[in-house]
Parts: sequence; structure tokens; C-alpha cells
Amino acid sequence: MLQVSGVVRTYRLGRTEVHALQGVDLRIEDGEFVAIMGPSGSGKSTLLHLLGGLDVPDAGHVAYQGLEVSRLSRNALAEFRGRKVGFVFQTFNLIPTLTALHNVELPLAYQGVSRRVRHARARDRLGQVGLAERVHHRPAELSGGEQQRVAIARALVTDPELLLCDEPTGNLDSASSAQIMELLRTLNHERGITVVLVTHEPEIASFAGRRIHMRDGRIVSDSAGEGESR
Ligand SMILES: Nc1ncnc2c1ncn2[C@@H]1O[C@H](COP(=O)(O)OP(=O)(O)O)[C@@H](O)[C@H]1O
Ligand SMILES: [Mg+2]
Repeated sequence: MLQVSGVVRTYRLGRTEVHALQGVDLRIEDGEFVAIMGPSGSGKSTLLHLLGGLDVPDAGHVAYQGLEVSRLSRNALAEFRGRKVGFVFQTFNLIPTLTALHNVELPLAYQGVSRRVRHARARDRLGQVGLAERVHHRPAELSGGEQQRVAIARALVTDPELLLCDEPTGNLDSASSAQIMELLRTLNHERGITVVLVTHEPEIASFAGRRIHMRDGRIVSDSAGEGESR
């Protein structure tokens, strides 16, 4: 369970303060599929980064399974991200000179996993996302949808409990977007991975069991509070 309480995040740029999050309270149960929606600049990415320990709040708490993520040391935070969380971004963030296989195994290399185990796991995850025939392709030799599937395989290689996706279909055509969303839905339904997805597209959000809307750094609506199915 993820518990966010009273979270405030203010960016300081010289003398200017940007109030990205102005008091966010949110509880996400294990196994949920949540879409975070809202206009550009409403704080969606900032919230997602805080959920995954990529950033820490200026005030308030973020706790995962009772562990205070917002109070961890830098090393403990990196450990938390490496063991529990997978991130997927709009821009894929693959390394262009590496094959799909080598991109996917990279997080394991950082964890000191042996080469043989890394290869086996990376191949397995590429198979799971339907890219068994593309393991030796480099990103430029893959379509956008395939590149995003490589990025998802990379996020899955460490067996995360929580998958955080920031506009994962933002650079994709509608057919590829639908494939990515089906894949996320399968991971959620069949593996029980908790998925939190940022999107501004209602069709994409419709794949989620719960929809949260943000505006000006606050949550303004949450379908979980309206008696919708979760
Ligand atoms: N690293 C940063 N430094 C300064 N301001 C930032 C930074 N990241 C985001 N912001 C600002 O914080 C606000 C919320 O941003 P963000 O969470 O990225 O919104 P969204 O993802 O909903 O578009 C915006 O006004 C944005 O310009
Ligand atoms: Mg954003």
C-alpha cells in the first residue's frame, strides 16, 4: 500500500517559487491500476516521481508498505527504487548504442547480477512483451511501440511490485498505444503489479480501474471516492 499524506513540493528557481504540489493526500492499495490525469503543469509528474522515490517532498510523507520513503537516505532510496519500482517514461530513455537485450539487462548489471542470469532474465522479459524476435535490435531499428515495450521489459527485469508510467503512450500512434495499454493491463491483472499511470488522454485513462484528476498541485477528483469499481 502506498500512502501519501500532506505532500508539498515547491521548486525554487532563483527567486521564483513554483508550487508543484500543494498538499496531496492519496492512498493506493496493492494491485490497483490508477490513472492520474490533469492539465499540463498540474503536478502529475512531480507526484509520480515522489511515489517512486525519484524525488522527496518538502513537507508531508510518502510511505510504501509502512516504509517512510520520504525519510530514506540517498542510498536507501536508490535501493528502494531498484528493488520495488519500475519506471516507464514518454521518451523511452533507451541507450541508442545498446541492443534491446543489453538495454533490458542494464538495471541488473547495476545490482551485480551475473551475466548469465542477466541475459536469461532479459530474454524472458523481452519475450513477455512480445519482442522475442527483436532482442538484438538497437532502438533505431525498432518502431516507437517496440521501443516502449523494450522500456517496459527493462522496468520489469527487476521484478518490481510497483510500475510507474509517465505518459507512456504520449509519443505513440493509437494502435501502438492500445498494445501498450493491453500489456500494462495484463501485468496488472495477471501479475498483480500495481500500476500508476500519468496521462491526459481519456481513452488511455479508461484502461485504469481508478481515475484521479489534478489541478494546480491538488487532487480535485478521485473516482475511488465516487463509488466506481476499483
Ligand atoms: N525540476 C523543476 N524545476 C522547476 N520547476 C519544475 C520542475 N519540474 C516541474 N516544475 C514545475 O512544477 C509544476 C508541475 O510540473 P509537473 O509535475 O511536471 O506537471 P505535469 O506533469 O502535470 O505537467 C509546473 O509548473 C512545472 O513547470
Ligand atoms: Mg508531466
